[in-house]
Amino acid sequence: MTQVKAAITAVGGFVPEFRLTNKVLEGMVDTTDDWITTRTGIKERRLLKKEEGSGTSYLAVKAVENMVERYGVDTSDIEMVIVATATPDMPVAATACKVATDIGAKNAFGYDLMAACSSFIYALSTGSKYIQSGQYKKVLVVGADQMSSIIDYTDRTTCVIFGDGAGCVLLEPNTEGLGIQDEILRSDGSGREYLKIDAGGSILPASAETVATNAHYVKQEGRQVFKFAVTNMADVSEQIMKRNNLSSDDVQWLVPHQANLRIIDATANRMGLDKEKVMINITRYGNTTSGTLPLCLYDYQDQLKKGDNIVFAAFGGGFTWGSLYLKWAIDPKN
Ligand code: UT7
Repeated sequence: MTQVKAAITAVGGFVPEFRLTNKVLEGMVDTTDDWITTRTGIKERRLLKKEEGSGTSYLAVKAVENMVERYGVDTSDIEMVIVATATPDMPVAATACKVATDIGAKNAFGYDLMAACSSFIYALSTGSKYIQSGQYKKVLVVGADQMSSIIDYTDRTTCVIFGDGAGCVLLEPNTEGLGIQDEILRSDGSGREYLKIDAGGSILPASAETVATNAHYVKQEGRQVFKFAVTNMADVSEQIMKRNNLSSDDVQWLVPHQANLRIIDATANRMGLDKEKVMINITRYGNTTSGTLPLCLYDYQDQLKKGDNIVFAAFGGGFTWGSLYLKWAIDPKN
């Protein structure tokens, strides 16, 4: 019997208009363009301002509209919507339901998936299982975050890093051997103290005190997270190559989570990949959390060829991390 794989058949992306440059940040907190550039690789990030729109669903819907326009997807055929996000529109009522309704996916069900910066890679894995089971034929996976809604713009250790953005892919069955081939997904809860939001959950519900102490913003012990990220992202990327007998020549693209250019370089080096094979947009968008991987696909889609071997790699709060290997299925004529 022919094996069914889940293939990406359409891609979309969106970033908001407002650009927060390193220069402007120099006037907001005690930092410099030089520090941000050399320590992270970021030059500017996009933020969603109220005048443009509000909420992660706004970013997600824009990304899907971009996909629909380019690939001619009929949204009423979509059966399932997964929104990977760490910044849902609201704590209760899944953002995916709103997105599905707004895009006209009236025959779909939807839910959110949260695994911090690994949300999109986990969601790709989840979506692919629904396709492989044979039960669904069109699964939309969105990675979207309005990070500016949970960032303290007086905290220089986080506000220089994050940005807002969204990307999406459509998954469909493929019987030619293209699509998702393999994945390695991991997590380790002992790392959660290093990257978290203390308040607003069930342990510390929001109160006047949590607001007064800024406990509803992201806190990160960057150096600790860096140590784990740099080792674990490279480890799983090397492992997925080994167990699929891929040499560095066999891999056409690395799609890495965009948290820090130094972490991306370390992963690419371990995989033996030249810089030209590494998708990078951290310079322009910063770390968009769940948006980084699909926004890379959105930016590089014209350079991808049917059959290309692509390795995704991510690391995030939780800790969560993983790698995923797929064969690109879209014909360049699209
Ligand atoms: O995406 C989810 C997963 N997240 C990650 O993978 C992030 C991993 N971590 C990192 O990317 C890096 O740790 C950061 C970019 C967050 C920080 O870079 P670093 O090289 O690890 O810096 P550090 O935290 O070790 O800080 C070095 C110095 C400190 O000063 P002292 O103690 O040496 O005097 C910081 O206070 O840099 C200082 N510093 C800053 N200086 C200027 C921290 N933030 C800034 C800043 N501007 N924005």
